[in-house]
Amino acid sequence: MEMAGTALAFYGLGAAALATSLVALKRRLRLSKAKHASLDGHGRIARRIASFVPFYEYDESRFFCSDQAPAEIVARRRDGFMRLSRLYAARFRETNRRTAEVIGAISDLQFTEAYRVPFQYSRFVRQHLKTGAFVQSSEGVMVADLDGNRFYDLTGSYGVNLLGYDCYKGTMEHGLARVRELGPVLGPYHTVIADNVKRLTAISGLDEVSFHMSGTEAVMQAVRLARYHTRRSHLVRFCGAYHGWWGDVQPGIGNPVPARESYTLKDVSDDSLRLLRTHRNIACVLVNPLQALHPNGAAPADSSLVDSGRRARFDKTAYADWLKRLRAVCTERKIVLIFDEVFVGFRLALGGAQEYFGVRADLVTYGKTVGGGFPIGVICGRKELMKRFRDDRPVDVCFARGTFNSHPVVMGAMNAFLQLLDTPQVRGLYRDIDELWNDRAERLNARLREESLPVQVANMSSIWTVCYTKPSRYNWMLQYYLRAQGLALSWIGTGRLIFSLNYSDSDFAAVADRFAAAARAMEQDGWWWYNPTVTNRSIRRDILKEMIAHRFVTLRERLGPMFRN
Ligand SMILES: Cc1ncc(COP(=O)(O)O)c(C=O)c1O
Repeated sequence: MEMAGTALAFYGLGAAALATSLVALKRRLRLSKAKHASLDGHGRIARRIASFVPFYEYDESRFFCSDQAPAEIVARRRDGFMRLSRLYAARFRETNRRTAEVIGAISDLQFTEAYRVPFQYSRFVRQHLKTGAFVQSSEGVMVADLDGNRFYDLTGSYGVNLLGYDCYKGTMEHGLARVRELGPVLGPYHTVIADNVKRLTAISGLDEVSFHMSGTEAVMQAVRLARYHTRRSHLVRFCGAYHGWWGDVQPGIGNPVPARESYTLKDVSDDSLRLLRTHRNIACVLVNPLQALHPNGAAPADSSLVDSGRRARFDKTAYADWLKRLRAVCTERKIVLIFDEVFVGFRLALGGAQEYFGVRADLVTYGKTVGGGFPIGVICGRKELMKRFRDDRPVDVCFARGTFNSHPVVMGAMNAFLQLLDTPQVRGLYRDIDELWNDRAERLNARLREESLPVQVANMSSIWTVCYTKPSRYNWMLQYYLRAQGLALSWIGTGRLIFSLNYSDSDFAAVADRFAAAARAMEQDGWWWYNPTVTNRSIRRDILKEMIAHRFVTLRERLGPMFRN
């Protein structure tokens, strides 16, 4: 009798364990299904694979024919490259000289220089096409380097430059003038903050505001607040989305440790909604609305431009529909919906992405341009989510401070910027803004097609990216032709062109002329020669083979002494 009882208890325990494992398995499968199939969707695997990718590079003989181009094309490429090299050396002499003096002591600069192009080509390019790090002035839509060369600015200063540099010179000066009497006093506020808070709550439609020093910090605190109030652990971000460089929002390559409490899910996907409905540990969902231009794709840097697979297309209606469905699930599951508008806030519409897509978030982060030219991060949020302490648990707080939060000069410049948003001139800039930029993009594309150039642009309002229509391993060279034409790009090259809203039709026409001229020169110099049997996939396969071969070489070199003995 006793034996039978014990056996029954065992069976019972076994059944319970099996049921628990089945539930865990089901959860695991649902998570796998909600992940994007790419490496961007699998941060841990991506990090592991990245650690195996060996360094190798093309020497001069291979540099021009990594796609097995015939001798005549190689000669054209070499001539074009050396012509550019001479032009860069002569035209950017002083800027390059000063850059060479400091680069050894500026780690950030060493990083950006190394990653302008795919690593196999990087050293040779750095030797011959030096891009100086210094500029000395800005005016209108242009910046000037130390040699007096003037460039049309397509960097947008990482998105900060929305209204034109002269405008920010004004907001910076106004900001300083407004708080001059107080100076750098931190802790107590300058009264200018009151007006900033009033304007930001009106713009965001949310109750409270907190100020931080960067977009990264604003996102960090928004996620921390969501965890605090929901008492849940995990954040959800969508595949490819950038939310700053803090560890939890960067689970893949670039972060030395795994992000254990983040899920990276497929963007615009019912599988992800299903997961949000069933997993109980999700505190918040982070949305970077810029991803509408390239859902599930990472920030499109030229350093990863090894083929022509880069795709981008903005469908506002489809993305708005997705956000509405996401909003509904978050409401249903009491998950905090965070719009990270550090980049796109104020660029798409005066009321930001919330207004543009017609969807309201629980917390919204802003940054970049809202500092009026100074460093900034802002959170606007619903009252109950912004609170950092509990009335009934006085020691259970959600701590967030920062020495320079609410710096008087930044607050002053922000005020000047926010006031500008209320002027008829700036309001006028937003009228038909999409039509204007879509039309400009379409006209440039038509022209590139007419000239049979294998390059097109895709845009989300004034944020553009360049796509390539024929398989090629050399698309990253376009950035050097564009610079030679007097177009300034940020270090990620042609992946992101950011226009300020003060670009007039004639400014834009000049950019379009130069863009087309650069693409024509690139074509004439043979970089877009292509063998019709080659596809983007076959290029990637060939690169993989090269990597494997080099990995074996490295291993053999390391283990060689063992085998010789
Ligand atoms: C959407 C988004 N979130 C956060 C950040 C980080 O902002 P910051 O560089 O000011 O830390 C960025 C920066 O590009 C961004 O684009």
